[in-house]
Formats: sequence, structure tokens, C-alpha cells
Amino acid sequence: MIGIIGGTGVYEIVTLGNEIEKRVLKTPYGNSPEISLFKLHDKNIVFMPRHAKEHSYPPHMINYRANIYAMKKLGVERILATNAVGSLERSVTPGDFIIPHDFIDFTKLRNGSFYDDKTVHIDVTEPYCNELRRIIKSSGDVIDGGVYVCTEGPRFETPAEIHMFHMLGGTIVGMTGIPEAVLARELEMCYASICTVSNYAASISPNNLTIDEVFEIMDRKKHELVKLMDTTISKISEERSCYCKGALTCAEI
Ligand code: HPA
Repeated sequence: MIGIIGGTGVYEIVTLGNEIEKRVLKTPYGNSPEISLFKLHDKNIVFMPRHAKEHSYPPHMINYRANIYAMKKLGVERILATNAVGSLERSVTPGDFIIPHDFIDFTKLRNGSFYDDKTVHIDVTEPYCNELRRIIKSSGDVIDGGVYVCTEGPRFETPAEIHMFHMLGGTIVGMTGIPEAVLARELEMCYASICTVSNYAASISPNNLTIDEVFEIMDRKKHELVKLMDTTISKISEERSCYCKGALTCAEI
């Protein structure tokens, strides 16, 4: 089972498959958004809109634990996520796809773990699945690697914050990538993200930021993004030979 966590534009991948079934899953953390189950390239796919229907949950209000737990409950082993991001570097331009290899977490208020009543320290030396990243890279025109800075949102960043993130080694900035990647690792699921650069970050952009420019780029890139995901899915093999599948070994006290 392969999971896709997506937002605007990516919904169209559902229409590439067949036998769509829709479901809402109950989890100990609350209900999942309505998910779609379908087959693509003879593989079972689950599609979950991260923000639920009509973008009802802003980034800081998304129930990340319910979303990831629901994926696990359905038997998902690998998650392909899509995220809109701002660019911290002039060479990474709006419209580019970039596959982060690391992250810096500047979120503040999110439930970032499934393990609140026992001590589990998962390793995130390689926070994104290397195997999945390799498959995505071989499936289209993407930038290989970058550091994803996750902010709490929902506001965009100040120029001073963007300056600091860049000095710290950040490449792109978004509001939804964390704790998703960490929660997937905590349940031993592979996770990789295809980030679409929707704008230059605040103060790198010559203009004030608007949500319209974000949506405009996402809309313009959606066919290419769906194609990239489709090709990636076609290449995913049954067996996993990555670190993620045994992430809890040696993590529990
Ligand atoms: N900042 C944070 N999140 C974003 C941005 C941004 O510039 N663009 C798209 N998501």
C-alpha cells in the first residue's frame, strides 16, 4: 500500500486510477480527512488531502497524528507527500521541484510524537527515505536535496527570519512538512516529499507575498507533479530495503 499526502492540484492523481472508494478513518487522535482508495500500476494507493476538504485546516491546525495513524492503519508502508514551499535561494526558482534530504524544525505548538507515555527516540540522521528519494529523482526533472525549514505559520515569515533560516543552511521554507515526516518514521513508514517552489520567500521576493501567487504556481505545475508521482509509483517495488522499516529497533528505552 502506497500513501499520498497532497493538497491543491495533486488531487487529480486519483482520477488516473480506478475503483475509487472513499472512507474516513477513526483513530485514537480523531478522524482522518476523507481518503480515496484506488489502484494505479496494479498497486493499492491511498490518497489523503492533508488540509481535508476545501482546505478546512490551516497548517497549524492539521491533525498530523490522525493523518499518519490512519495511513498506518490502512497498511501503508510508503508515503509520498507534496508540499508548497518558498525558496530561500535565488537559484531555486518558482516552479522548480525539489526533494529535501533534511529539515530544520521551527514549529512550536504541534503534537510531534505518538509516544507520550513511553520513551522512544527515533533516529533522523536521514529524515527522508533514501530509497523513495532515489526513485523520485529518477522519475523527472527535480532538484536533488535541500534543507526544508518548517515554520508554525499560518503567517508568512519576516525578512529577519528568512535571513536567519538561510544562514542556518535552509534551502526552502514551508508550514506542513513537520511533524509529518517524523510521525511516519515513528511508525516505520517510508516518507519522502516532492516540494513545489511556489514563490521566493519574503524579502527575497521583490513583492509582498500573496496566497494567490502560491496557488497560481501550484495550478500551473499540477500536471507535471501528477506525472512525476505517477512515474514514481510505477517504479516502486514491493520490497523495502531502507532504514525506515526498522526505525523502532534500538529506539525504545
Ligand atoms: N513560506 C512558508 N510556507 C510557504 C511559503 C513561504 O514562503 N510558500 C508556500 N508555503
